[in-house]
This record gives sequence, structure tokens and C-alpha cells, in this order.
Amino acid sequence: MARPTTAFIDLAALKHNFQFAQRLVPEGQCVAVVKANAYGHGAVPVAKALEPLAPALGVACIEEADELRQAGIHKPILLLEGVFTADEIEQASANNYWIMLENQQQLHSLLNAELTQPIKVWLKLDTGMHRLGINPEQVTEFYQQLQASPNVDNDIILATHLACGDDLGSDFTDTQIACFMAAVKDIDAPLSIGNSSGVLAWPKARTAWNRPGYMLYGNSPFNIPQENADQLQQVMTLKSAVISVREVAAGESVGYAANWTAERPSTIATIAVGYGDGYPRSAPNGTPVIVNGQRVKLVGNVSMDMITVDVTDLDSVAIGDEVILWGPELTANEIAQWAGTIGYEILTRMPLRAPRIYK
Ligand SMILES: Cc1ncc(COP(=O)(O)O)c(C=O)c1O
Repeated sequence: MARPTTAFIDLAALKHNFQFAQRLVPEGQCVAVVKANAYGHGAVPVAKALEPLAPALGVACIEEADELRQAGIHKPILLLEGVFTADEIEQASANNYWIMLENQQQLHSLLNAELTQPIKVWLKLDTGMHRLGINPEQVTEFYQQLQASPNVDNDIILATHLACGDDLGSDFTDTQIACFMAAVKDIDAPLSIGNSSGVLAWPKARTAWNRPGYMLYGNSPFNIPQENADQLQQVMTLKSAVISVREVAAGESVGYAANWTAERPSTIATIAVGYGDGYPRSAPNGTPVIVNGQRVKLVGNVSMDMITVDVTDLDSVAIGDEVILWGPELTANEIAQWAGTIGYEILTRMPLRAPRIYK
């Protein structure tokens, strides 16, 4: 029998989530963000499933875009961080990649490039995230230079990115949107603000172009219930199986560093998943794991290839029994909370080791 650890990817749920995002922005369009191997779900199969629905796909860098083109994806691909070096501009033009443009150096490279076809540019404004983007007061100057260049497609998009959209109680999002709207008010161009949190929960962030990522995979960017996020369908179910079962006496410890000690005679099941598969090493004792459809507790440190769980309270557990690490019944967000991180990190840090099975 092969190692049972497998990530099942539900492409119908993925499509549902994209269509749901699109319904939330009936006047706008959604770029499907598939960077970082589609948040761990597999960039090529995810992009192939979404290509018929989405007007464009979004990635972090040209290497990720090339992977999609080589796999036969034809739709435009937006490079969310733009180009890193001047030579990438020619590649972008030749391959119908759209570029986020966010600084003077990128502008200079674009204006001076020799291109066969103009590039569609998303001009990014820094409205408070202070990571990428031009200052709002530079927008007219940049926009005019872009408009005058034969290297630039006529339809320039003005974009910004939200820093606190996942915090429903914060007023920072309204401040960013107000800053953005004030900066672009004299320019007649399509706008782009919302990522998942914007699309789901901030009506003013729903504009002509939207850039949902995390929500496409069925995950909520919020750590409290939210009516739209609650309608998403989990795309990934990470499954494994019990590979060993043993009784340990009260007072005996389990795993590396003897980090958990049985307080009662306990039945411990060993499961074939570990941090080498992306299960977080920082998950503490008590983190929920589903064995035979029931929640049990992780006990002992997470190893590279295995975890151990306390199944004393289950009726019977045997080698081969099904285990779910995350999926619709137990979200990656919940595991992330136990592990002191966010679900985004849990999913995008998944290595390729667990095969992805698409249905
Ligand atoms: C510029 C930009 N747009 C959109 C997204 C997608 O964000 P999310 O996954 O929260 O929807 C990201 C992700 O980091 C991003 O950097």
C-alpha cells in the first residue's frame, strides 16, 4: 500500500467559490489569484479549472506565469508584483502578461523597452499598506506617462491593496479606500481594490476589477463568522490514515522531547502525516484531528512524517482507518489558530509530497 497521505482537491467547490466571488461583484470582474502553487492546491489544475470562468489569472512572478503558459493556459496573467528586472517586460509583452507597476524604476524600464505589443498595466497606489505602490500624489504624473507610451495598452487600471481588510472592526480599510478614491477622482480609469476580504465584506472595495485569492479555496480571511465567507466551500481535504495503534500506561510519554504524558491508560494512534507534508510543527497538544469521523486530540510533538493522537475515547481504531487533517469538517483556519499562524501559511507552505487528487 502506498503512503496514504493525500490532498483531495474539489474542483467543483473551487468553481463555486469563484462564481460566488463574481456574484458579489456583479458590475466587476475577478482575476483569479493562483500564486504560490494556487495556495498549495496546484497552480496548473486550478488554473485550468478556472480559466473558462475567469477573465485573467493572478500570480506573484513571471516564473509562476510561465508555468501556466507552458501548461496551455491562454488567458491573460497578471503579475501582481510586476517585473523584477527590465528584461521581464519583453517576456511579459510576448506572453500577454499584465503587469502591476508600482515604482519609478519599473516605469522607466517599461517606457524604454522595445516591445512587439503593448502591455496592459495596473498602476498600483500605496494607500497605507506601505509595501508596494507609488504615492497617491504621483498618480497623475505616472498615469500620463503611461498613457503617452506606445508600450502601454490604452486601458490602464488603477489599483491598491488593503492592509486590514480581514479585520472587520478596523476603520483602516475605509481610510485606505477614501485615500484611493481621492487620489484617482480626476482620472477616468477602471479601479481595483478588493482581494478576498474586500470582495466578501467591504462593498466599497468592490470595483471594476477584483483580485480574490484565499476565498477561492473555500477559506475565510476573517477569524469570526461572516455571512458571505460562511457560504464558501472548502476545496482541499488533507487525508491520511492510522499506521500504528498502541496502549500506553499512565505516566508514559509520547513522541520527541516527551512533550505529552498520559494521565490515564491511553490508546495512541500514529498517523502518516507530519511537518514534511505541511502539517504545522507548532501544532500543540490538543489540536483537533478527525479519526473515523470523530474529533480527537493531537498528543506529542509533530514529527517530520508522523503525528500521534489520543484515541482512547473512540470505540475502536485500527491500522488503515481514515484520518482528516483539514477539510470541510475541520478547516485549515482552525488548525492555523491552534498552531499560532494563519490558514494562508498552512496551505501555501504545503510541499508537493502529498499527492493532489482532483475531482
Ligand atoms: C496584490 C494582491 N492582490 C490580491 C491578493 C489575493 O489576496 P487574498 O488571498 O487575501 O484574496 C494578494 C495576495 O496576497 C495580493 O498581494
